Amino acid sequence: MEEKIQALREDAVEAAGEAGTLQAIEDVRVRFLGRRSELTRLRKGIGSLPAEERPTVGKLLTDLQGDITTALETRTVAIREEERRRAIEAERLDISLPGRRRALGGYHPITQTKIRMCEIFRGLGFEEVEGPEVETEYYNFDALNTPSHHPARDMHDTFYITDSVLLRTHTSPMQIRYMEQRQPPIRIVVPGRVYRRDADVSHSPMFHQLEGLLVDRDVRFSDLKGVLAVFAREMFGADTRVRFRPSYFPFTEPSAEVDITCIFCDGDGCRVCKRTGWIEVLGAGAVDPEVFRAVGYDPEEYTGFAFGMGIDRATMLRCRINNIRILFENDMRFLTQF
Ligand code: PHE
Repeated sequence: MEEKIQALREDAVEAAGEAGTLQAIEDVRVRFLGRRSELTRLRKGIGSLPAEERPTVGKLLTDLQGDITTALETRTVAIREEERRRAIEAERLDISLPGRRRALGGYHPITQTKIRMCEIFRGLGFEEVEGPEVETEYYNFDALNTPSHHPARDMHDTFYITDSVLLRTHTSPMQIRYMEQRQPPIRIVVPGRVYRRDADVSHSPMFHQLEGLLVDRDVRFSDLKGVLAVFAREMFGADTRVRFRPSYFPFTEPSAEVDITCIFCDGDGCRVCKRTGWIEVLGAGAVDPEVFRAVGYDPEEYTGFAFGMGIDRATMLRCRINNIRILFENDMRFLTQF
């Protein structure tokens, strides 16, 4: 009997040791410990043994069951461990492999200039708004006191879509649109694309402007000067000075062209400023009373100023290029420098 139990133990321990999967372990358990196993059969037979042998055989069988159970458990732990190891191996990350870098986009130099300009004006209390690029003659010209015989209206200068609809020639129509909708005080800047029939090294048929408009009680020309002087210093450097030259726009009176000291020669005179020491950057003036009348404001109650500057021109200065077309060719060798 003892040998038989010992042989059973060896068989079971060997079978457990050879089981390679959890299913195989289960099969071994059923085979050696199950209801129809040899062990169960032997246990049932205890009753028919002589009484003095029963405790000894009972103990042997209990030990056998314990040993088989232990062998199965040991093997189960080993299989689980092995499975875990294999899973980790299969999902292993090769951290030495360089990542795939996404090409990062960036702002176009003109957009960078626009963002900087708006940022400076935001600091001075101006809100940024935008208007339509396809405009009516009314907003682009009439309401801006620009009579029908004005040269800007000429087919040679302007892209017409119909007789009275056109691509805006400046961002000034947004002055009218905004004032129609609101009451003073008003402080806005309007960046956007504008269109003129014009193309050479410093002119493109599509270019960008930033319009400014401030309307309130007691606004003076000196407020315009102060705002533009602060802007020029912030935008082009702390030493930059501004100069106002008398000019004419139908929608401002008085009007001025505004120059800044040349940022390349500090006003000494160079090729960029054509030896004058000054660079023209914008047109400006006090809002003409006729413009206020067009939007139903009382010119006796309100005064204001407006200005319009070229974003592309400022970008050319910043990027130190003298051909505007470079800005629109989208050559990455140029764009990635900024
Ligand atoms: N709209 C004018 C232009 O395009 C610039 C300007 C704007 C002048 C506002 C005065 C006031 O030339």
